[in-house]
Amino acid sequence: MTESAENQATDCYSQDHPDFRRYLVNIDSISTHQLFTDCLVIGSGIAGLRAALEAAEQCKVLLVCKKRLCDSNTWKAQGGIASVLHELDSFDEHIADTLKAGCGLCDPDIVSLVIRQGPRLLEQLIAGGMEFDRKGGEIDMTREGGHSKPRVAHAHGDETGRIIAQSLIERVQAHKNISLLEDFFVIDLLTDEDQRCIGVVGSDSQRRSQIIWAANTLLATGGAGQLYRETTNPDVATGDGLAMAYRAGAILRDLEFMQFHPTTLYIAGASRALITETLRGEGAILVDSKGHAFMKQYHEAAELAPRDVVSRAILSQMLKTESTHVYLDIRHFDKAHFQKRFPLISELCETFDIDIRKDLIPVRPSAHYLVGGVKTNEAGETNLPHLFACGEAASTCLHGANRLGSNSLLEGLVFGMIAGRTATRHKVTNLADLRHPLLQYAIPDSDRSRLDTADVRNSLRALMWRNVGITRKAKHLEEALEIIGFWQRYVMDKVFDQPDGWECQNMLTLAMLMTQSAQNRLESRGVHYRWDHPDLSDAHFKRHFEIARA
Ligand code: SIN
Repeated sequence: MTESAENQATDCYSQDHPDFRRYLVNIDSISTHQLFTDCLVIGSGIAGLRAALEAAEQCKVLLVCKKRLCDSNTWKAQGGIASVLHELDSFDEHIADTLKAGCGLCDPDIVSLVIRQGPRLLEQLIAGGMEFDRKGGEIDMTREGGHSKPRVAHAHGDETGRIIAQSLIERVQAHKNISLLEDFFVIDLLTDEDQRCIGVVGSDSQRRSQIIWAANTLLATGGAGQLYRETTNPDVATGDGLAMAYRAGAILRDLEFMQFHPTTLYIAGASRALITETLRGEGAILVDSKGHAFMKQYHEAAELAPRDVVSRAILSQMLKTESTHVYLDIRHFDKAHFQKRFPLISELCETFDIDIRKDLIPVRPSAHYLVGGVKTNEAGETNLPHLFACGEAASTCLHGANRLGSNSLLEGLVFGMIAGRTATRHKVTNLADLRHPLLQYAIPDSDRSRLDTADVRNSLRALMWRNVGITRKAKHLEEALEIIGFWQRYVMDKVFDQPDGWECQNMLTLAMLMTQSAQNRLESRGVHYRWDHPDLSDAHFKRHFEIARA
């Protein structure tokens, strides 16, 4: 990545780098069990489900996911889905808020496209059986940071993601043109000599190797929060889709922009459960360990400042008070209303004996959403023919350098529909014709020692949290690259036969790319903050970094 290059894709690995390998496993298309489909969708979040439904109007679809259909970031989403549904709001205001949050790196055409499609696609969700919470007959809209109007629709209080996902899953399960394979680990995208994506190699629930030949392949594999020790993301979010797209030659973009959610429950030993931003939208106050409400001194919008501002303010207040966390104060909330409006958080508090009438909720930031991803255009196409991407796995440039809360479910819905439609473009009359006559790939045995991948994975997550976290600086990034490079030498040269090995390899690949991207952006913009370059520099960095293998 050169500083002067404008949107130029660069190759960060030379031929002799241990990570240069095209495929993670040996492949022999003659002896491997094979499946065929018109359209293969990988992933079961909002984008994958919506894409499958759209594509199934035109052709046969096979949707595969790594664990169960419900294991997705969508399922865990609390706040809601942003859209202009009331007359007091307008497309122009939603567009302006999104552009402002994106700090100069949004694509205005994409922003306009997504925001204008929102109401129609939400109507479709409702027509499909999904119910949003209502007040006086109208959809009840709430607020999140950076939105100038209440425009976040929610369902069953803070269970919006589960309600949306369940409704889409029921429709997908009932669709005659859609087949489903759960617990199917996609290891690699297959490409032919013209770099056309021709399907995938994967491992089924019995851990048998399978090739799926597909006329069109759509990546909706979600994000990579699991690269960080502290994250709101489910276990499946290990960045596999991005790493395999990179190995296949797809262009990745904006990987330095990892968004940290300001408020996740901080109880040592417990997983970092999300405490939705809509809680602050409805009056929760951030206080430090001395009980001091501190947000006003960092931003005029206080608790509703953009997420990056709130996360850094919390970090700085933790440092000032020498504390591991801060608190959310909701003691002024009406308990009965709170239980109804936020059932998930209410249950969570009860589990940990937090009485919201007298106790504060301990919180701190965690990795939440990868803004960058596989570069796509307005039709959901990647640079590889017959490969499409949508949702968190894709980089559409809707979010720029920072994502507004609840814009991602909207993006998943809109680009799921768009990419699903585009991905039916290439049709075949006879599926058996998709079979590539001969695909063979053999990896030489490694003579290096074997590392414990569970240990590497944990250490990598701690390293990313410490060195490539909410704030970064050159020395920490250099150190991270060196350590990741060391692990790569011992992990990337092996052939694994279980998901934890492939995940560890994917996490190392993506961690390297994200760290290199963070190292190259010598300024602070959106969710990327450099201690050593605290200012925004439009003159040099109002542009995107793209990475691809040569
Ligand atoms: C939240 O509910 O705070 C998360 C919503 C989002 O990340 O869009």
